[in-house]
Amino acid sequence: MDHKELPILELRNLSKTYELKGHRAVDALKAVHLELYPGECLGIVGESGSGKSTLARCVTHLERVTSGQIRYRQQDITRLNGKALRSQRERIQMVFQEPSAIFNPRMKIGAFIREPLINYKIMKGQQAEQEVLRLLERVGLSAATAGKYPHELSGGEQQRAVIARAIGVRPDIILFDEATSALDVSIQQQIMDLLLELRKETGISSIFISHDLAVVQQVSDRIAVMYQGEVVEIVESSQLTSSANHPYTRSLMASVLSVREMKHKMKAQKQEEEQGRMGVLQESLSG
Ligand SMILES: Nc1ncnc2c1ncn2[C@@H]1O[C@H](COP(=O)(O)OP(=O)(O)O)[C@@H](O)[C@H]1O
Ligand SMILES: [Mg+2]
Repeated sequence: MDHKELPILELRNLSKTYELKGHRAVDALKAVHLELYPGECLGIVGESGSGKSTLARCVTHLERVTSGQIRYRQQDITRLNGKALRSQRERIQMVFQEPSAIFNPRMKIGAFIREPLINYKIMKGQQAEQEVLRLLERVGLSAATAGKYPHELSGGEQQRAVIARAIGVRPDIILFDEATSALDVSIQQQIMDLLLELRKETGISSIFISHDLAVVQQVSDRIAVMYQGEVVEIVESSQLTSSANHPYTRSLMASVLSVREMKHKMKAQKQEEEQGRMGVLQESLSG
C-alpha cells in the first residue's frame, strides 16, 4: 500500500515489562514499531502470550508502558493524565473478547449505548435516545433490544451492542482484541461482515487482533505478526502467501492451510458417504 498520509497512530520502540514480586520479569513487548494509517485496518496475529493484548492495553492506556512512545496524530500521548487522558480515551475505543466483562448486568442495552454519549457530552435527551435507535439499527439489532438486559442477548448480539456503543462516540480508532474469538463460526462471520461494512461507511481506522490468521486476513489491509513480544514481520494481507518471509509467519500460514485442507477433505468425505448411501438406496429400490 502506498501511504501518502501521515499515520494516525505510531508506536515507537514500545516496551512493556511486567514485574511481579517473587516472579521472573516478563518482557511482554520488546521495542515494538507499528504505524496505523487513516482508514486502515491493521491486523495483529500471534500465538497466545505473544503480547497482543498488552499492546492493545498500552494503546488504550489501561496499562502503562515501560519505555518507548505512543503517538496519536503526531502527538506524544504516552503519558497522559486527568482530562487529557479522558478525551484521548474517547478517540480510541476498544472491543474485547468477552462483552459480558463490560456490561453492567442491571443496565439495559439502550442505557449502555447511551452512556458514553452523555458522559462525553456528545448528545443528550431526545437526541441521544434517537441516536441509540439509529446505532442499534446500524449494527443489525432491533429497536426492542434497547429495553433488554445483557443476559437476554446471545453472544453475537452482545458483541453487536458493544460495537454500537463503540461507534457511537465516533472514535478515530477502534481496537478489536479477539472480539470474535468466543463466537460460533457463523456468528463470527456475521460480525466480521458487519465490521467490513462499518469500515466502508465510516472510514474508522482499526486494529484487529486475533490468534487466528485466517480471521485476521479477512478484515485487514496489513498484518503484523507478533512472536514473543516482538513484531517479527508486517505483510500486506493480499500478498500474504507470496511475500511472507519469517519462519513463524510461514508456520502460521501452514496451520491455516491445514485447517482449510481438513475442511475440504471432510466435505469430500461427506459427499462420498452421501453418494454411497444414495447408491445403496437405489440398489435396494431396484432390487
Ligand atoms: N498483568 C500481567 N502481569 C504479568 N504478566 C502478564 C500480565 N498480562 C500479561 N502478562 C504476560 O505477558 C505476556 C503477553 O501476554 P498477552 O499480552 O496477554 O498476550 P496475548 O494477548 O498475545 O495472548 C504473557 O507472557 C503473559 O503471561
Ligand atoms: Mg490476548
